[in-house]
Amino acid sequence: NGDEGYSSAPSNIALIKYWGKNLSRKQIPDNSSLSYTLGGFRSFTKVTTQGRFLPETYEKTIPIRNKLYLNSKDIEFPIPEKMDILIQSIFYNFADEITLKIESYNNFPTACGIASSASGYAALVGAIADLLQLKKHLSAIELHTWLTEWARLGSGSATRSVIQSSEDSFIKWELEDSCKESFTKTSELTFHPKWKQLEHCVFVLNANEKKTSSSDGHKSASTSPLHNVRVAGVSKKIAMMTKALKEFDFDLVQQISEEDAFAMHAVMQTGNPSACYLDEDVSKALALFIQMRDSNEVLAFWTLDAGPNLHILYYKDAKQILTEYHVKLQELLDRDIKIFKNAYRGGLL
Ligand code: DP6
Repeated sequence: NGDEGYSSAPSNIALIKYWGKNLSRKQIPDNSSLSYTLGGFRSFTKVTTQGRFLPETYEKTIPIRNKLYLNSKDIEFPIPEKMDILIQSIFYNFADEITLKIESYNNFPTACGIASSASGYAALVGAIADLLQLKKHLSAIELHTWLTEWARLGSGSATRSVIQSSEDSFIKWELEDSCKESFTKTSELTFHPKWKQLEHCVFVLNANEKKTSSSDGHKSASTSPLHNVRVAGVSKKIAMMTKALKEFDFDLVQQISEEDAFAMHAVMQTGNPSACYLDEDVSKALALFIQMRDSNEVLAFWTLDAGPNLHILYYKDAKQILTEYHVKLQELLDRDIKIFKNAYRGGLL
């Protein structure tokens, strides 16, 4: 799990989106979601301590939260508030005084259309679990629960980046009965072996665009009259996609993914404040993609997160068309458009 003491975690792209959450301390999502793991886009994190720290105190509680120092001169960016709260909360039970050094990097560039919060928080909690030697103290299931619960408090989508049994996987993040102690559950879906050849790339339409952050967007989801309608339909979509992944029903996976991305963007646009990521360039890019994909009948589908970047999931046979699409898209928008490919399969398009 990582190089030279680093814990690593992959990013993921949701095919059935998580959008809207309960803003309480627990950060429970309003709906279950389903994602495809992007094994080539990874974050690496190492957490070390120079302070007094006793891993064997895991079973005990040290109810003193007086001093916690984060060694900010050793990191190149100020710790985001969310990360600071997460770290302080985790260590609350472990130490009364500690100095942490956090070293972190991604193997993908910042402006490549892949949010690093999913892989970043999953790698961070993995690194903290290593530091705390939790493998020795917890069963595999307990450790998984520990990692996913903390990853969720960092970033919801990070919950789906904790499982990493292989580079290709489809992860379901479900809401559970709120009476239980654990409120959400992630699991790996079984899928038809043909999905192993699925490829993924991102067409970055605007690397710099100022956007409403996902965290802010989640807050306004419930103000959209469409939110409850979308949420009510998610369980059925997840059940259908689970079956379609098992049976290799590509058309159904495509149809559900594209419909759910549109549904999420409709919620975003009709909320208050509203956020519109489907700007003119994205609309043009999408229309051209759909037209070229449908007239050539290749296996490829699109999805969009909270950013102006077109994610394409496709099979080898679609490569030629995607290369032509890239040329035409650049002509249409009259500028260079970068493509980033989930690299572990090697080669660009
Ligand atoms: C559109 O996980 O980034 O990518 O929980 O506030 O950190 P926070 O939000 P985040 O939201 C992801 C939203 C999405 C859809 C998805 O990944 O499911």
